Amino acid sequence: MKSINFMTMKPCCRVLISRKISPFLGIPLPNSHQFFAPNSSAFQFNQSLHTAPKTRIANLQSILKENQQPFFAPSSTRGQSRIFSSSCLCGKLSHRGLYVIARVASVRNYSTSVETRVNDKNFERIYVQGGLNVKPLVVEKIDLDENIVSNEEPNVKVGEDSLDDKSSDGLSSVEAVKNVGREQSEVDKEAWRLLENAVVSYCGSPVGTLAANDPNDKLPLNYDQVFIRDFVPSALAFLLKGDSEIVRNFLLHTLQLQSWEKTVDCYSPGQGLMPASFKVRTVPLDENKSEEVLDPDFGESAIGRVAPVDSGLWWIILLRAYGKITGDYALQERVDVQTGIKLILNLCLSDGFDMFPSLLVTDGSCMIDRRMGIHGHPLEIQALFYSALRCSREMLRVDDGSKNLIRAINNRLSALSFHIREYYWVDMKKINEIYRYKTEEYSTEATNKFNIYPEQIPHWLMDWIPEKGGYLIGNLQPAHMDFRFFTLGNLWSIVSSLGTPKQNEAILNLIEAKWDDLVGLMPLKICYPALESEEWRIITGSDPKNTPWSYHNGGSWPTLLWQFTLACMKMGRMDLAKKAVDLAETRLPADRWPEYYDTRYGKFVGKQARLYQTWTIAGYLTSKMLLENPEMASLLFWEEDYDLLEICVCALSKSGRKKCSRGAAKSQILV
Ligand code: GLC
Repeated sequence: MKSINFMTMKPCCRVLISRKISPFLGIPLPNSHQFFAPNSSAFQFNQSLHTAPKTRIANLQSILKENQQPFFAPSSTRGQSRIFSSSCLCGKLSHRGLYVIARVASVRNYSTSVETRVNDKNFERIYVQGGLNVKPLVVEKIDLDENIVSNEEPNVKVGEDSLDDKSSDGLSSVEAVKNVGREQSEVDKEAWRLLENAVVSYCGSPVGTLAANDPNDKLPLNYDQVFIRDFVPSALAFLLKGDSEIVRNFLLHTLQLQSWEKTVDCYSPGQGLMPASFKVRTVPLDENKSEEVLDPDFGESAIGRVAPVDSGLWWIILLRAYGKITGDYALQERVDVQTGIKLILNLCLSDGFDMFPSLLVTDGSCMIDRRMGIHGHPLEIQALFYSALRCSREMLRVDDGSKNLIRAINNRLSALSFHIREYYWVDMKKINEIYRYKTEEYSTEATNKFNIYPEQIPHWLMDWIPEKGGYLIGNLQPAHMDFRFFTLGNLWSIVSSLGTPKQNEAILNLIEAKWDDLVGLMPLKICYPALESEEWRIITGSDPKNTPWSYHNGGSWPTLLWQFTLACMKMGRMDLAKKAVDLAETRLPADRWPEYYDTRYGKFVGKQARLYQTWTIAGYLTSKMLLENPEMASLLFWEEDYDLLEICVCALSKSGRKKCSRGAAKSQILV
């Protein structure tokens, strides 16, 4: 595997971070910007001692004594940049073949609890077991040609709450390797070569892939970074090939970034937020030395300052996939990893002003990371949220400290699926109902709960909706339904069973019926239709990159191929997946693997599309491998969970006033 960071001198490894708050033992810390050495737990302890009340200090000292962990560094000057040297660590340990890349300095290792509140009032706190007795973040460096997981016994864990028989058997990576032993086509060989060239190394170990790797691109902007969402198809391609090291490293390093954040002006987003992307930077030190640092972007540099809400959700989804495919469940059982899951959930489940179980977000907080009128409750985020909750429920260790959280997850899962199935679903029949809606209904029994004015139904939709098939709309707010078809949200609803089995089938029927519009000459449209004229001007803010049928505004994104393949495989529609993969296979290499395509049917390479876009390449490879290994695909999707539906029916019955909704929940059970 080729590293893009070629250095003659072995650099030290650090995380370039800016720290805002630390709930270390509940003590907030002042803002400061600093270079942070991976083993800089010393800094936190030092900082904490400056600010901690005496009783806390006493507690801390006794904990330290008990655990015999000497963390203290020379006294720090609060609020100033500091560098903690880790050169000795890098040098010494690498001789033994064990290369300590980072020792997690994150506060979570030392916290015993994370306060949280969710709608379930019984759920009060996340208890983080382990105290100081936790494993530091250690990434073992192993010769690149060695298969790290093949040495491990597949440790098959079936979570107590894992209800999904089909996906409960982890396959070891040995089996994965065996499965890709077929003769590769020339296109596949080229794709693998390009994917491996995009690998980013940090301190000699692979940690992710560049978003795009076009040697002729003189202005890569942030495409030379590792994006969390972009890495998912790369990770799956590597995992399916039997190469799990890069994925493990990625999961652990991004976990490390999670606890820290940069500020956007004077404000810092919540702890637990995962960055949108990170970059490995080489920073010169004295005497011809240099070191590598990880520099995350939480949105503070991103165009439009968009919030990477989807990153943490993808991280959880990938963590589960890693366990399922490699059989290495030890990773997800680690205390720091368990805490990472809880911190993400803590952010998602905390109370706000929400009236709905769906997640409320700002515009551009997911794959569509520009203003596109998707603020509020966009389907993509809801589908990823639902999947992440299902993943977490499988992975969280069940103990006294997590049982309230697990209860909250179950309640949210059932409320969320009910909400989406009931209010986001449209087909011909439903559109006809909306068309005849009465408005201004003031009562808990209202049929038109969101006060949708029938005039909102767009003209294109009346003509477009097929007799057979339906889909989940893009967004729902008071007096507003966004009727655009968003592909990722719909596909991921199928994959995670957010939709009912009938709805899932109907979504694929609609894609088949509207093949020219949604697939056309290149799979698949990111959304349909494009915003044009006044709508484009008002909703995108006259965005010249998102002109009609370009980029996020109705462009075609080949990376969506792998999600389409997975959804088709789940629903037994291999024919559709193969048709789409064939289209991609003939065009992508000839066009140099573009990021997206433009025009109504995806005829042209996108106006500003990057070439050699990694998730295009990885999406293609993953699709091919999934098609060849259906048993692997089955590890990555979920079947209907009937227990969740029961929870929903019970909750509605107890509230006693939702006649039609209770009927709806019951009818969801029947489909
Ligand atoms: C664009 C896409 C975003 C992607 C990034 C890197 O900003 O909108 O989804 O993660 O490029 O490829």
